[in-house]
Amino acid sequence: MRIDRASGVSIRAQIVQQLRNALESGLLPSGRPVPSSRALATGLGVSRSTVVSALQELEGEGWIESSQGSGTVVSRRLDATSSTDHDLDQSETSSGQDIEIDMRPGDLNPEDISRAGWRAAWRSIEPSTTPPPPPGCLELREALSAYLGSSRGLPCHPRQIVVCAGTSEALTLLALAFRWQGRTVAVEDPGYPAVRRTFHALGVSWEPVDVTDPDQLLANLQSTETSIAAAYLTPSHQYPLGHRIAPDMRSDILRWANRAGVILIEDDYDSEFRFGVSPLPSLAGLDTTASTIYLGTMSKVLDPGLRLSYLRVPTHLLGPVLETRDMLGTTVAAPVQQAVTHLLSSGELARHIARVRRLYQDRRLTMLRSLERIPAIDHITGAEAGLHVLASLRQGVSASAAVEQARSRGIYITDLDDYRARPDMSSPGLVLGYGQLKPATIRRAVNRLATLPALRETNDG
Ligand SMILES: Cc1ncc(COP(=O)(O)O)c(C=O)c1O
Repeated sequence: MRIDRASGVSIRAQIVQQLRNALESGLLPSGRPVPSSRALATGLGVSRSTVVSALQELEGEGWIESSQGSGTVVSRRLDATSSTDHDLDQSETSSGQDIEIDMRPGDLNPEDISRAGWRAAWRSIEPSTTPPPPPGCLELREALSAYLGSSRGLPCHPRQIVVCAGTSEALTLLALAFRWQGRTVAVEDPGYPAVRRTFHALGVSWEPVDVTDPDQLLANLQSTETSIAAAYLTPSHQYPLGHRIAPDMRSDILRWANRAGVILIEDDYDSEFRFGVSPLPSLAGLDTTASTIYLGTMSKVLDPGLRLSYLRVPTHLLGPVLETRDMLGTTVAAPVQQAVTHLLSSGELARHIARVRRLYQDRRLTMLRSLERIPAIDHITGAEAGLHVLASLRQGVSASAAVEQARSRGIYITDLDDYRARPDMSSPGLVLGYGQLKPATIRRAVNRLATLPALRETNDG
């Protein structure tokens, strides 16, 4: 607070106005003690009686109240009138509907993580008073390159690894490093919405590439309207359709990318989870001309809350990536990096993956069996890998009505259109995650979905 004696406004009015502003803006939250008249008078260099009179006016207006024992406090009634805090609180809560079962793909169940292994990793952390090197702690980069070798057969030098804070941050880093602003990146359609949002926010234009038919992928990439700088792909488990790009098509795409000077971004987000199908070599592993940047994440194998992803960058593309990482600085806290290093090098992550694979297989089979009783589902795809399935609906069924009705009954499911660059009512679908749900919950959720009017009525009755 400042008193301006030359302003022509009385000192009392100035005190009233400034305190009222602070109360109105929420700067002084309700219940908080108001500074005493003595302290205010001394601090402002004015008489105490002037301050007392100003406070009386604010009390008369209902802003503050005197209470026995706790002096003068900001009135609790302000909760009802000051909207600021309320609006801010509201803006961070989601739909406002009570969700009992969340079937969005992407969430995991914390109960699936072994407490003992997790605690051991966090107990291993040493305090460090310096930020980690921008591309990540060397021990973590060594552990990640060993992991890529053993889990993906992908040879990798630790210095090729650059640690990032999730997939969007990794894409941001690449867009800045290769100056894609004002240029065009091809993105899958349907695809991971966060990718489009990230490029859009950065001023990188993106062109949707139809990925519905995996056999047409190369032709569709070749026929992009603008000349593209890069292409973002999920070849091991297309998100969200679920198909896997065959090795021959992978080689063809690599040849095209090399000829066209296109950088490929291979998002290999959940290839650890396969059910009854053999692993496919990664694009980066097949790439002899080194135009593929591999993007991995801890979000599906362990915990999306860690916010830890990583890039494996071909040596000849490392320069600009490291320079940009240097400029932005490190984005993953040292304790997180140390804990993940411990989980990788102690073998705990491998044990965790082996354990959850069995759980996911059980949940997946429950999901597939349960979905059979929904007549509006035409067929299921994408169940060979990952932690979600795509339920294609019969012609004429409204996916958006199903989503709406499911939410009003406490179940969060997503519409395939949410993943499309342009909605397509002619092939409706639902994307259903099962990784986080126990079999009994899956059965309960699908039973409830089966009763939704939108999923009971089909064109053929
Ligand atoms: C296609 C795809 N890539 C990556 C991720 C992981 O993103 P992040 O590393 O930001 O948690 C997800 C999570 O749902 C995804 O669906």
